[in-house]
Amino acid sequence: MKFTFRDGIRSQLRPLPEVSTFAVDLTGKVVIVTGANIGLGYETAKHLASMKPAKLILACRNLETGNKAAADITRATGCSTVVCWQLDISDPKSVKAFVDKFELEGGGKLDILLENAGMNNFSWKRAVTGWEQTIATNHLGTAHLALRILPFLLKAEKPRLAIVASDVHYWVANPNEADTDGVLQKLNDQKQKGKFYAITNRYFVSKLLNVLYARALSSHLPPGTSLTVNAVNPGLCSSALLRDLNAVARIPMQVLSRTVARSTEVGSRVFVHAVVARELDGKTGEFLQSCKVDEPSDFVISERGASASKRLWTDTLAILSEFDDQIPATVNTYLK
Ligand SMILES: NC(=O)c1ccc[n+]([C@@H]2O[C@H](COP(=O)([O-])OP(=O)(O)OC[C@H]3O[C@@H](n4cnc5c(N)ncnc54)[C@H](OP(=O)(O)O)[C@@H]3O)[C@@H](O)[C@H]2O)c1
Repeated sequence: MKFTFRDGIRSQLRPLPEVSTFAVDLTGKVVIVTGANIGLGYETAKHLASMKPAKLILACRNLETGNKAAADITRATGCSTVVCWQLDISDPKSVKAFVDKFELEGGGKLDILLENAGMNNFSWKRAVTGWEQTIATNHLGTAHLALRILPFLLKAEKPRLAIVASDVHYWVANPNEADTDGVLQKLNDQKQKGKFYAITNRYFVSKLLNVLYARALSSHLPPGTSLTVNAVNPGLCSSALLRDLNAVARIPMQVLSRTVARSTEVGSRVFVHAVVARELDGKTGEFLQSCKVDEPSDFVISERGASASKRLWTDTLAILSEFDDQIPATVNTYLK
C-alpha cells in the first residue's frame, strides 16, 4: 500500500490501545528484548516485566546502562527475574557469545524475541566486521541473532519473533535496487552512486531490509511450527534514535517530535502487542503497525519485492556463514 507522509501524521494522531487490553500472563515464559536499556526497548521490557515472565533478558551493548535499566524495571514492576546480558548486535562474536550463554543459562527454550536494537547513522562508519554500521546493526546483526537463536525459539510453545522495522520503509527511493545482484555489497561500497545507496538514506533502506528479511525468514519456517515472525513499526516516537543527526536536519525532526511523535511508552505498546496479543496467534510474515496487521509498501508486495526478499535471504546467509560456521547447519536442520 501507499503510505504518504500525511498518512503517517494521521496514524500518529490516532490513540493506541492500553497494554492492559491485550496483556497476557507470561508465567514460565522466557523473553529477550534487544536494545532495552533506553527508549522503546526499555518501555517494552517494562510492560513485559509486569506480565511476570520466568526470565526477561535485556540484551544491551552497554552493561552499565543495561544493569541500571534492569534494576529500574524491577523497582517499577516488582519483577525480580529481569537480567541484563551483554550483546553488541553488530559484532558476530558478541552474538555467538550471547547465544552460547543462553544455551547454558537461558532455560532451554525461548518464548519471545523482540529484535529492537537499532541505530540511525548519517555518516560513514564501519562495524568491527568492516560492514557499514547501519547495515551491520539493523540488518546483518538482527538476522544473525534470529538464526543463531532459532533452535531455542522452536522449542517453545507458540513462540514469537518480532523484528523492529519502520514506516520509513514505505519511503525508500528506488526500492527496485533491492532486487539487484550484490545489493548488500553495493550498500557497503562508499563509492556507489544513486539515492538508494546514499548514506543519508541508509536508515530507510535498512528498515526495508528488516521487512523483507522478516518475510523471508517466515517463508522458510518448517511446516507445522507455531513460531511466528513479523516486522513491526512503532510509528514516530521521541527517543535518542536521532542522536547523530546534524543540527540543521534536527530542527524539522524536533518540530515533529514535539507535535506528533508518540512517547516511547505509547510506541512500545505496538511492540508488546506484536509479541503477546492473542489476536495475532498464527499470524506470520506480516507487517504490524498501530497494534494491527497492515499492508507493507507496494514494493514489498510486488514481484520485485518478493524477488528482493529471496535475494536478501540468500545473500544474507552467505555473509553470515562467513562470520559463523554454525549458520549453514542451523538453516539446513531447522528451516525449509
Ligand atoms: N523512535 C522512532 O521514531 C522509531 C520509529 C520506527 C522504528 N524505530 C526503531 O525502534 C528501535 C528502537 O529505537 P529507539 O527509538 O528506542 O532508539 P534509541 O532510544 O536510540 O534505542 C536504540 C537501542 O538500540 C541499541 N543499540 C544500538 N546499536 C546497538 C548494537 N550494536 N548492539 C546492541 N544494541 C544496540 C541502543 O543501545 P545504546 O543505548 O548502547 O546506544 C538502544 O538501546 C530501532 O530499531 C529503531 O529503528 C524507532
